[in-house]
Amino acid sequence: MTEETTTLTGPPVREWPALDLAGTEFDPVLAELMREGPLTRIRLPFGVGWAWLATRYEDVRQITNDPRFSRTAGMDRQVTRLAPHFSPQPGSPAWADQPDHNRLRKAVAGAFTVSAMKRLRPRAQELLDPLVAGIVRDGPPADLVERVLEPFPVTLICEVMGVPAADRPQMHAWAAQIVSIKGGAEASAEAKKGMFGWIADTVRARADSAGDDVYSLIGAALRRGEISEAEAVGLAAPLQIGGEAVTHNCGQTLYLLLTRPELMERMRHQPEARATALDELMRYVPHRTAVGLARIALEDVEVGGQLIRAGDPVYVSYLAANRDPDVFPDPDRIDLDRDPNPHLSFGNGPHYCTGAVLARLQIELMVGTLLDRLPGLRLAVPADQVAWRRKTMIRGPQSLPVTWG
Ligand code: HEM
Repeated sequence: MTEETTTLTGPPVREWPALDLAGTEFDPVLAELMREGPLTRIRLPFGVGWAWLATRYEDVRQITNDPRFSRTAGMDRQVTRLAPHFSPQPGSPAWADQPDHNRLRKAVAGAFTVSAMKRLRPRAQELLDPLVAGIVRDGPPADLVERVLEPFPVTLICEVMGVPAADRPQMHAWAAQIVSIKGGAEASAEAKKGMFGWIADTVRARADSAGDDVYSLIGAALRRGEISEAEAVGLAAPLQIGGEAVTHNCGQTLYLLLTRPELMERMRHQPEARATALDELMRYVPHRTAVGLARIALEDVEVGGQLIRAGDPVYVSYLAANRDPDVFPDPDRIDLDRDPNPHLSFGNGPHYCTGAVLARLQIELMVGTLLDRLPGLRLAVPADQVAWRRKTMIRGPQSLPVTWG
């Protein structure tokens, strides 16, 4: 981490490069920033200037719950960021402040509730089973990423959204390109054009549909004049893309189980304790590279004893908050009995992940089904030969070669 002398008041601005980390290693730069103090200043690889970074649990909660920190104010401003290209989509809840944020989320909320996910569960298992049966039929070895972790979340989110089977491969290709840092701005813009055009056509065509798929819900909200067409696209796209996060998060979870026999043992022999254990792995997994979207202070606000001035950009690290020793004793240890476990892996406040219940369902089904159907599941290569995704925002194994029996 390099230090820069600055004439502005406040802690020094630290460079935070996007490291390609292997395994589930916690980002060493983030660890150093956490040691430096509750509020530090960072410069990420792209964008302009510096931003505040909050790493303590209580500060992260305060910032993410305080309407004086705005997402919308960041839409027409270049701030220091991880992603090379920057094109915030109007209508995306990620960029909306109240009251627009509530209005947008309301249009799709019904599709992602706990009860909707309960209803989805048998269908989800039905979609997962043939994927796992395919692996069993072909015999070991198998790449779990290619055979299960990628196709299952993509298929399931397409099912929830209402994407016809024939369009699913194309939708997946667009989503994968949009979340990748590879290919630069052009490839990403091209993928967005394709996906957004498809969404606009689909919601228009479903304006009169009474279906409970997300595109029908959005179509109906459009017809009632509750949202605009641009908002319909901005609302649907992150839901469609968010499914990809599950692949990589679950990849990290399985890697942990496959490389730590004591965890695997517990998961296998105490199925009733799996939900609690998966929650602890959710806390521990370093889901992403660096940080997500910034918020802009609309007025002077004090956080953790530090004055943040109106106009300053602020990032929070949910990964750092999940390792705050004041809330999670011995935070770098995986404790499958940890209780309570109020982790922030799905965010906090109004921007709390829309797909959190869906993501938990998918991970629980994938891990549970793989452990139950593939006795003796283990890595087919030494752990240090597992290839990890590079130059991406969401971390995870590129492939997970396993054997069993
Ligand atoms: C937002 C985590 C899966 C859709 C978020 C946020 C986090 C997160 C940390 C940001 C909170 C903030 O802005 O402060 C995760 C993790 C996942 C996952 C760890 C998987 C394990 C999903 C899935 C979907 C989804 C499956 C779609 C169905 C969204 C959307 C937002 C969001 C739309 C923006 C919400 C808003 O700003 O109002 N997620 N997510 N996510 N996530 Fe997820």
